[in-house]
Amino acid sequence: MTQAIVNSEKIPNNVNLSGDPKLQRALEKWLPNYLEWWNEMGPEGTYQNADIYLRTAVDVGSEGWAHFDYVKMPDYRWGIFLEPAQEGRTVGFGDHANEPAWQQVPGEYRNMLRRIIVTQGDTEPASVEQQRLLANSAPSGYDMRNLFQVNVEEGRHLWAMVYLLHSHFGRDGREEAEALLERRSGNADKPRILGAFNEPVDNWLDFFMFTTFTDRDGKFQLLSLAESGFDPLARTCGFMLTEEAHHMFVGESGIGRIIERACELMKLDKNEDAKAQGGISLDQIQRALNFWFSVSEDLFGGEVSSNAANYFASGIKGRAYERKKYQDHLALDGTYKMKLVKEGKLVEEDVSLRNAMNEILRDDYIEDTERVITRWNKTIEESGVKYELTLPSRRFHRQVGAYSEHKFDPQGNLIDEATWNAKRDTWLPTRKDLDHLRTLQTRVTEPGKFAHWIAPPRVGIKGRPVEFEYVRL
Ligand SMILES: [Fe+2]
Ligand SMILES: [Fe+2]
Repeated sequence: MTQAIVNSEKIPNNVNLSGDPKLQRALEKWLPNYLEWWNEMGPEGTYQNADIYLRTAVDVGSEGWAHFDYVKMPDYRWGIFLEPAQEGRTVGFGDHANEPAWQQVPGEYRNMLRRIIVTQGDTEPASVEQQRLLANSAPSGYDMRNLFQVNVEEGRHLWAMVYLLHSHFGRDGREEAEALLERRSGNADKPRILGAFNEPVDNWLDFFMFTTFTDRDGKFQLLSLAESGFDPLARTCGFMLTEEAHHMFVGESGIGRIIERACELMKLDKNEDAKAQGGISLDQIQRALNFWFSVSEDLFGGEVSSNAANYFASGIKGRAYERKKYQDHLALDGTYKMKLVKEGKLVEEDVSLRNAMNEILRDDYIEDTERVITRWNKTIEESGVKYELTLPSRRFHRQVGAYSEHKFDPQGNLIDEATWNAKRDTWLPTRKDLDHLRTLQTRVTEPGKFAHWIAPPRVGIKGRPVEFEYVRL
């Protein structure tokens, strides 16, 4: 356990920031730029003055790490928290396995590490930008609060990455930290680095899908860095994972509640049409699922990747649960079987293990995601409705990697362009889907009230009742 942290310092931290005045000054200089970004690109206007019932990280212990109270978002105490150092920690995998973990950046890996930290860091403000108008159509005060909770924590994750850049990468790091505030999600001239973080998220179906699938990508990226040889990065990611769990809860339970309501409405309608009753149909949910799952899979990178092999070899980025799940941390010998397109056909190929690291991480992601689909299907089954949501094949609708050059159906079969064009609208969100979502966009804020298309949650936040006043506008 570390000492209790929320202190009078400008930047709450458990990294003894005041013991490094130069770093402290640099971060205090970055703070107003961050706030300027937050005010411009964070939740829109009026919400910045509202009192929101938020949790704030105050320490990293498994108990009592967070404090809940009303706060105005610009006054949120964004802080820097690393998990406690472990005496004698070693590099967990790759060519340096079992050597002492690094407290400083090794010169030969400096560029690689900086790139990983910047790429991870870029996703954090990007998601806040993507979601900045959503409060205007929140289905309840409870949901609006959850949105803002996710937003402020993504802001804190940006702080976490900026701390690493400032403390370990000198002038380049400071420049990268500024650039993180300059790129803009979806902007053609200065887009965010990764594709899914430039997609618009302007309705709540997409928001809940994003937090289910895209935040879950974040979970696995963080897991693959949480045992990194670069100790400060490993300890940072460890703590970010604690917060990430809530983001995925928001997504999964949000979709679960839309499903619950859809099933209720189907039973009210003579044609079992949830949409006709003002809900969101299960078909439409499936199409949104197909979209967000596939764009989130892209975030893991190419199937066969020499970059991934280098990251692993250097001990920077490994597999999820590296120490717990694997005995062989060198991964020099084995191969991984994957299906690739050769001469117009899908054929199985053996790829050397290190070159398949992205795919191995994607496997863990898919497995985790399948459990979510199973839980959603349980909700449908319990309602008595006959319908099953399915996860599309990993080959479906990919923009990155080996499958992006071909078309596949949701079952993963190779198909031609004409078939794709004919079927596209049954597989992916359509104009009509979006138009329908637009008709549902009315803001509900009265405590205990919920929009018609979503069921209320079973319990509130932190033991508070569902009808608690989570936002005071
Ligand atoms: Fe995050
Ligand atoms: Fe997140």
